[in-house]
Order: sequence, then C-alpha cells, then structure tokens
Amino acid sequence: MTSLLTLHQLSKRFGERQLFNIEQLQIRQATAYVLTGLNGAGKSTLLRVLAGLEPADAARVTFLDSEVRLAPYPRDMREAIVYVHQHPVMFSTSVADNIGYGLVSRGVPKPEVARRVEEAMQWAGVGHLRDSKPTVLSGGEKQRIALARAKVLAPKLLLLDEPTANLDGAAREQVIALIPSLTASGSSVIMACHDRDLIALSGVQRLKLRDGRLQARQQRIRVA
Ligand SMILES: Nc1ncnc2c1ncn2[C@@H]1O[C@H](COP(=O)(O)OP(=O)(O)OP(=O)(O)O)[C@@H](O)[C@H]1O
Ligand SMILES: [Mg+2]
Repeated sequence: MTSLLTLHQLSKRFGERQLFNIEQLQIRQATAYVLTGLNGAGKSTLLRVLAGLEPADAARVTFLDSEVRLAPYPRDMREAIVYVHQHPVMFSTSVADNIGYGLVSRGVPKPEVARRVEEAMQWAGVGHLRDSKPTVLSGGEKQRIALARAKVLAPKLLLLDEPTANLDGAAREQVIALIPSLTASGSSVIMACHDRDLIALSGVQRLKLRDGRLQARQQRIRVA
C-alpha cells in the first residue's frame, strides 16, 4: 500500500527534556492506526506535531512522495491533515454551521458547502441536530459532530485524540462504528487511545509510544 507520510528521526524536546525520538514513522494511505502509551508518553504531542500545531525536528519527511520540511509546515499538509481535539471546541451557532465552517473558510461555494454538510451529518447520524446549539449537546453527540466537521474536509489523514475517552455505552459504540468508514473512503486515521475496542478494531495497525520510542505492531487477527 502506498505511503502517505513518512518521517525519519522525528524528535521532540520540551526544553532539556527529550519527549521522543522516533527512528521512522510511516503512515500508509487509507489505513487506521491506534497510538497507545501510558499517560504522559507523548501521544497527544505526537498528534499535534503531525498536525503542524507543535514544532519538532525531523531528518527527512516525505508526504505523498515529495520531500518536505516540517518548518514551515507545508500548506498542502496543513489542509490534508486534520486534528480532532479530545474536547472539541464549537461555536455557539448551529451544528450545521460548525460542520461547514472549515469549507466556508476554504472558499467552497455555498451550495456545495450545504450539500457536503448534509452528507457529513447523515454519515455521523446527527442530521436531526442540524439546528441545535452545540453547547447543549451530549459528549457523544459533540464527538460525532467533531468527526463530521473533520471528515467534511476530505482529509488524507485524521488525527483523533482519545475520541472515546469520555463516552460509554451507545455513545461510545456510535463513535467506534464511524472509524472503518473513514478508511473505506480513503482517509488514514491515527487514534490516540486507551480504549480496548478501538485497539481491537479489525485491520487497525498498532503503534505504541514507550520511553520515547515508537514500537509498531501488526495486528495478528484480520477480519475480511
Ligand atoms: N507545552 C509543553 N511544555 C512542556 N511540557 C509539555 C508540554 N506539553 C506537554 N508536555 C509534557 O509532555 C509529556 C507528554 O504529554 P502528552 O500530553 O503528549 O502525553 P499523552 O501521552 O497524550 O498523555 P495522556 O495519556 O495523559 O493524554 C507530559 O509529561 C507533558 O507534561
Ligand atoms: Mg493525551
């Protein structure tokens, strides 16, 4: 499978402290990964680095076969890679406005914004909430809206920081159910998580941050 993003010698320091030094990280196209590690291992920081929200050093970076530099963070990568925060911040307008905001700011024509927002709301199962204020919604609804807001931008890579951390029961299952359709539509996904059900999703590759190193493990069980 084709490589989307490959980084060599990716290291991150906070002052004197080196948080991680990753020999190689290769993200393949249309592939899902879970990123695990103890609290403080650097999962959120790594996702933020990949999203261009946090500076870091790398010896060599390739994005879709082109060699790029991390600083300044390339514009096409900024548009192709979307980070979803564990506690998504939303505007107190409507759900539909929140989902469409990124498209509007990219200059997409209004009728196309409306069509793509509708599609994204159906995908996330939040169509009935289109006129609701996001501030009054449940954690699970907010998380699905945040996923719809990311998916509508048709990113090549989605970085999800603990997408199910504060959810249980049906809300958690609804979020987990959305993940395979992201890779089916061609996006790659990296999820930082502790959630066993996400780790066990079929076909998901495992990455583990431990003592500043990244360990990759192939899933042994694959369900067609
Ligand atoms: N801006 C910062 N300045 C200094 N240290 C920081 C900064 N941001 C994070 N750190 C430190 O880096 C370490 C890794 O933090 P990070 O949030 O990436 O871990 P995590 O693996 O996501 O943890 P958790 O499972 O609790 O979410 C922590 O020790 C944290 O205190
Ligand atoms: Mg974290």
